[in-house]
Amino acid sequence: MKKYGYKTKYGECICTDSLIGLQDLDDNSIDLVMTSPPFALQREKEYGNKSQSDYIDWFCQFAELVYNKLKETGSFVIDLGGAYQKGEPAYSLYQFKLLIKLCEEVGFELAQPFYWHNPSALPAPIEWVNKRKIRAKNSVNTVWWLCKNPKLCKADITKVLTPYSDRMLKLLEKPTEFIKQENTIRPSGHVLGMSSWTRDNGGAIPPNMLQIPNSESNSKYLKYCKEMNVKGHPARFPIALPEFFIKFLTEQNDLVVDIFGGSNTTGQAAEQLKRKWLSFELSKDYVAASSFRFIENSKDLDCVYSNILNENFIDLTDLIEVEQLLLLG
Ligand SMILES: C[S@@+](CC[C@H](N)C(=O)[O-])C[C@H]1O[C@@H](n2cnc3c(N)ncnc32)[C@H](O)[C@@H]1O
Repeated sequence: MKKYGYKTKYGECICTDSLIGLQDLDDNSIDLVMTSPPFALQREKEYGNKSQSDYIDWFCQFAELVYNKLKETGSFVIDLGGAYQKGEPAYSLYQFKLLIKLCEEVGFELAQPFYWHNPSALPAPIEWVNKRKIRAKNSVNTVWWLCKNPKLCKADITKVLTPYSDRMLKLLEKPTEFIKQENTIRPSGHVLGMSSWTRDNGGAIPPNMLQIPNSESNSKYLKYCKEMNVKGHPARFPIALPEFFIKFLTEQNDLVVDIFGGSNTTGQAAEQLKRKWLSFELSKDYVAASSFRFIENSKDLDCVYSNILNENFIDLTDLIEVEQLLLLG
């Protein structure tokens, strides 16, 4: 089958079913699969969702392939939103059932569960939250960080340190005002040693609850979608989410893959961080529009977009090189 989509300096976005795309990759070749699949929602998105009853078996087809293609040191990170059971103010267990099957049958280990809190999430579902006011709004997704081998799995938390709190900055400045004697025992049982707690490590260890608003409104992607009169992808995650896991779990030149590429947020994060990347997406329209993330000059939008819709494979680095040559005169 003819390959179409586009390539950049570090990666390729290919319009295909990822069950096919993954098969073309060598076993033990991927460092990180970072993805957000269609969720098992009751209200269908425009790109289609599997029903809750079929979801687990449907997803496991992809997971089995991912398992074979992932290196021993690799990770599989899956962002999943919560959902209610049909017509009931009762939560579906699909994320948790899926996690159990991925670990107990497919062979993954849960390296650590993460939670993504989106403070800008809108109140939903309307029936239970807005109308009857009997449930809180959903604003936390589960992000399952899976690996093949928890001891070998590559990870470095020092790559994703967060700024110190004001209190910690004061402690670093004047430690003796906070810790009166060496080896103070806190009520929790933790021993506060002067030397270990007052060392400046360049930032704080982040928690496994990531607080990232999903409120992008002024990105190049959205600007160019508007210019081209194309609807932006309806279920993008914020770029800070893949950025966190790419920095945490991979090194430069490692291979990052998104098997449900959507608007290719993961590809953009990987490109910026100089990781090799691959993105598979079923919808031709989404692939074509996702090229806007990598186009420098808006005069190229129309030509690239229509060429991808006509099932061509476009090398975006050629565009950039031609533009640079023109600029140099
Ligand atoms: C939740 S969206 C991903 C959004 C993406 N994280 C972003 O930031 O734009 C899921 C995407 O998976 C795509 N998809 C569904 N089944 C697929 C398959 N078998 N192969 C490739 N893509 C698929 C859908 O078309 C949809 O765009």
